[in-house]
Amino acid sequence: MTRRPYVAGNWKMNLAASDAVRLASDVVRKTGRHRSVDIGIVPSFPFLMGIAPRLEGSPLKLGAQDLDAHEFGARTSGVNAAQIRSAGVVFTLVGHSERRAIFGDDDSACNAKVHAALNAGLEVMLCIGETEMQRDQNQTQQVIENQLTGGLKDVSDDQWEHVSLAYEPVWAIGTGRTATPDQAEQAHAWVRAWVEQRASKRVADAIRILYGGSVKPANAAELLARKGIDGALVGGASLEADSFSAIVTAAANSRS
Ligand code: PGA
Repeated sequence: MTRRPYVAGNWKMNLAASDAVRLASDVVRKTGRHRSVDIGIVPSFPFLMGIAPRLEGSPLKLGAQDLDAHEFGARTSGVNAAQIRSAGVVFTLVGHSERRAIFGDDDSACNAKVHAALNAGLEVMLCIGETEMQRDQNQTQQVIENQLTGGLKDVSDDQWEHVSLAYEPVWAIGTGRTATPDQAEQAHAWVRAWVEQRASKRVADAIRILYGGSVKPANAAELLARKGIDGALVGGASLEADSFSAIVTAAANSRS
């Protein structure tokens, strides 16, 4: 089964409005020819509506970095699934390690967000990954499985096609340290085996599992060449159109 590569750029809390809109346009210009790759950009909330029109007619998908699991109401600063969808968003990250570590999103909060997003017609990219201490204590597989079990609880058969996963070892995010291709391939195999057991072989064959953690043009090709690594969730290197586009090119070439 060949899965379509998927590369998403998580801009995190960076850029001012005019720079964000410009970067979006540059990314469209530099990556738009790659029709064999799903490409997503994930700007801060205030820039979503300004960027959405720039992506029209391009293959790029607009993503949100997070959402509030609740519906409309008195939740100052909350942004819900219907709101981001109405701003032109197609998918949302859930459970990024910075959300887990800084804002306290636990697996049950992630699960509520997953359902809120799916119920509103958004795609979800659930992020999972172990800390350095957990890896050193040989807990990586268990940690990943717990995050998957908690985060994806009660996802129904017909919802799986709207879910992708990002394996991001916490110790590799923003540190310049990347998981070795062997480490990443092993973790992706654990994730896919979990999906097969929880859902089905068909779902496991189809689901995209992205690697994230200091992906850059210099290491993208060797990671994306590995079995079961279907794309990349890129932080720092997505803030420059040239480096992001080089990673998209590596993803396109990985399947050719
Ligand atoms: P990084 O971030 O590429 O800067 O390590 C990845 C991420 O947080 O998704």
